Amino acid sequence: MTDFPEGFRWGVATSSYQIEGAVDADGRGPSIWDAFGAVPGAVAGGDTGAVACDHYHRMPEDVALLGELGVDAYRFSVAWPRVLPTGEGRVEQRGLDFYRRLCEELLGRGIEPFLTLYHWDLPQALEERGGWRVRDTALRFVDYALVVQEALGDLVSKWTTFNEPYVSSIVGYGEGRHAPGAREGHGSLAAAHHLLVAHGLAVREMRSRRPDHQFGIVLNQSPSVPVTSSPADVAAARRHDLLLRRQFTDPLFATRYPEDYAETFAGVTDASFRLEGDLGVISQPLDYVGINYYYRQHVADAPHRDPDPATRTSIDIGIDTSRLPDVPRTAMGWPVEPEGLTETLVGLKERYPDLPPVYVTENGCVYPDRPGFDDHERVEFVSRHLAAARDAMEAGVDLRGYFVWSFLDNFEWAHGYKPRFGLVHVDYETLVRTPRASFHWYRDLVAGQRTRS
Ligand code: NOJ
Repeated sequence: MTDFPEGFRWGVATSSYQIEGAVDADGRGPSIWDAFGAVPGAVAGGDTGAVACDHYHRMPEDVALLGELGVDAYRFSVAWPRVLPTGEGRVEQRGLDFYRRLCEELLGRGIEPFLTLYHWDLPQALEERGGWRVRDTALRFVDYALVVQEALGDLVSKWTTFNEPYVSSIVGYGEGRHAPGAREGHGSLAAAHHLLVAHGLAVREMRSRRPDHQFGIVLNQSPSVPVTSSPADVAAARRHDLLLRRQFTDPLFATRYPEDYAETFAGVTDASFRLEGDLGVISQPLDYVGINYYYRQHVADAPHRDPDPATRTSIDIGIDTSRLPDVPRTAMGWPVEPEGLTETLVGLKERYPDLPPVYVTENGCVYPDRPGFDDHERVEFVSRHLAAARDAMEAGVDLRGYFVWSFLDNFEWAHGYKPRFGLVHVDYETLVRTPRASFHWYRDLVAGQRTRS
């Protein structure tokens, strides 16, 4: 294992709805994931986040485990409906107190909190008023962000606005595979834009209050690789790259909308949600960008479900992403392609010369559990991706840290509890936590890197 520079941050990541449970505790309001989980067939096995890892009640035990792991950074998210049960107005102090205790426990063990304000659990009350389709939700987000900053700003200095706005918008409002389960073309593209506006407004306001804090956003990124070199597949990969990456990264890092946007989304949207001045808001200077990387996207040209752009209503850009290469896959069916992480990081730096410093804020895998929790495949997966991250640094990427997804097994959204991403196994009957072999391996790796520096 190659050495990483002194000061490189070693962490693990989780998110509120995926681990906390306790959905009715201490005045928490319902989120879109509570509502979505109640829709028959929406989540595999009918699983919900009602109990999850019960982290809300077991937080000190979990932080003690983080201490054993020896990481110096922990990435988690705050549940908006714990802090503002209806998304706005009345603040629930008990919700804020929980995150205060969490941050205090972390800092007491020398672990820096990397706080994400939004990891997909929108208050249901705001969804009922349009959710991310409407600009008002962006304004409500700013109010929420300021409440959290005011309450925790003495303990937290790394603030991530959004986790994977692509998934919140396109998967939630376009494909309907995630909450709120909508299948809208215009709605999902409006959501993508409003998430970016919310990000920019929140960063501007939070920074003006605390110029000493650091602000960033987390994006899921991966190269869109054409399955053949035919012009049709190359063009399909470019459309996919727009949908997954450029509709977010161009406004954020180059103060522009992608030039192929109107053509690609013809018929689906008129982009009337864009207002003058939005680009200036969205492109606030950032202190870091977080990249979540899992695997490369392999893209082929495919017929549109509706060939006529004039009547097309849903996100349908004429692509097929099911033709995977002949390489080993994880139990999620995802191809193992560490070099895609290098390409992602180097590619971003090449495309956006002013890219802020980068963290890999998520990377990890699922494999079937083995006797004794000997998850050597996970060890190999993480180790190979760390080598790929190191390659990107050699190529000039300013990479500051790496977070394994995930600390604990947790609620994997529409897949329910079956996929287990944790360095720590969670028995969902007894809620007992058992560190896997990868936990011990990562602990030793981090300790070794620290001794060296
Ligand atoms: C991305 C998401 O941020 C996280 O919530 C999810 O569990 C992992 N990827 C794995 O799919």
